[in-house]
Amino acid sequence: MALGVGFHARKWEYFASLVSRSKDIAEAAQRRQPRKSDVIIGNSPWIKELFERIDMIAPSEIAVAISGESGTGKELVARTIHNLSKRRNAPFVVVNCAALTESLLEDELFGHVRGAFTDANRDRPGLFSEADGGTLFLDEVGEMSVGLQAKLLRVLQEQEFRRVGADENTKTDIRLITATNRDLQEEVSQGRFREDLYYRINVFPLPLVPLRARPDDIPLLAQHFLMKHRAKVGRNVIGFTPGALEKLSKWAFPGNIRELENRVHQALVLVTDEYVQAQDLVLSPGQQFGEGLIDIARPFRELKREQVDRFERNYTRKLLRAHDGNVAAAARQAGMDRKNLWAMAKRHAVNIDDYRKDKS
Ligand SMILES: Nc1ncnc2c1ncn2[C@@H]1O[C@H](COP(=O)(O)OP(=O)(O)OP(=O)(O)O)[C@@H](O)[C@H]1O
Ligand SMILES: [Mg+2]
Repeated sequence: MALGVGFHARKWEYFASLVSRSKDIAEAAQRRQPRKSDVIIGNSPWIKELFERIDMIAPSEIAVAISGESGTGKELVARTIHNLSKRRNAPFVVVNCAALTESLLEDELFGHVRGAFTDANRDRPGLFSEADGGTLFLDEVGEMSVGLQAKLLRVLQEQEFRRVGADENTKTDIRLITATNRDLQEEVSQGRFREDLYYRINVFPLPLVPLRARPDDIPLLAQHFLMKHRAKVGRNVIGFTPGALEKLSKWAFPGNIRELENRVHQALVLVTDEYVQAQDLVLSPGQQFGEGLIDIARPFRELKREQVDRFERNYTRKLLRAHDGNVAAAARQAGMDRKNLWAMAKRHAVNIDDYRKDKS
């Protein structure tokens, strides 16, 4: 039987997966619709080439193997290929091979019939079935166990599979798109990935370039994320100053586009003007608020000073804006001495006149 000891040992995970089922069904319906956010932004020569490749491969049935660092847009590209293919009205089913144990992943993919094993109290069609007519996106395929790789290969070759406990095979017509941030060729040479499966899924390799290798895309992407998030944050921010864009273009973005989106989102919370300025962008790991990003290699005093400076500068700007540059009223609300507020504004190069309504 396909589900062995490992399954029972991890029964709790199975129940957790049942609870998420009804949510999955609602989500599955949504998967059939292209999302509004399914748009690939960029104007670098590389992204133009990517558009051409997607246009070329989408209408075909070819298996696409997307590779790239985390946050480079692997899933977005897979979804776009599906949306532009003949299969666009059928489901786009995502399976993350790294998120489940071997036995649970097998159960997800193959499904089972009721009574196939102790806890199987109803049929589960399996994702090979759900994706029938559509696209199956196997994310982090390099994490799949060698045993399951063999079973996957068989399904791809025979275009049918057998649910656990079933007497007959079920036909399935799927287009496969895979993604990995590992070097699969290296995995093959180490014996961790089957060579025959590698050739089967790697018909059209599509490597995605990290953001730091295509900084031309940064301004457009940054503006896109600004427009996306500004309403949510309740800010009427128009764009970025040239200094802010320069700062972004120099950052290495280890988390790629996902990181850029987060940084822009964060800047929108801190910004006090119509344009995001360089100082609103928290890029140095040492300047982050979250524990994970505090750079303990740097002296505590220095880090604290940076945080306090940032807070004081933003506080002063926001306070003066709220009081149209009236220092007496602003100081009253802040519960501080006027002289101290003057001094704080001066220290942070905040020009009080800029906030006065009656300035000419
Ligand atoms: N060119 C792009 N234009 C607009 N948005 C993009 C672009 N590339 C990626 N994104 C966005 O960045 C985020 C990360 O993309 P995605 O989830 O596709 O990356 P991934 O490579 O699958 O990451 P991971 O390896 O971490 O799973 C998503 O919100 C996606 O919509
Ligand atoms: Mg992904």
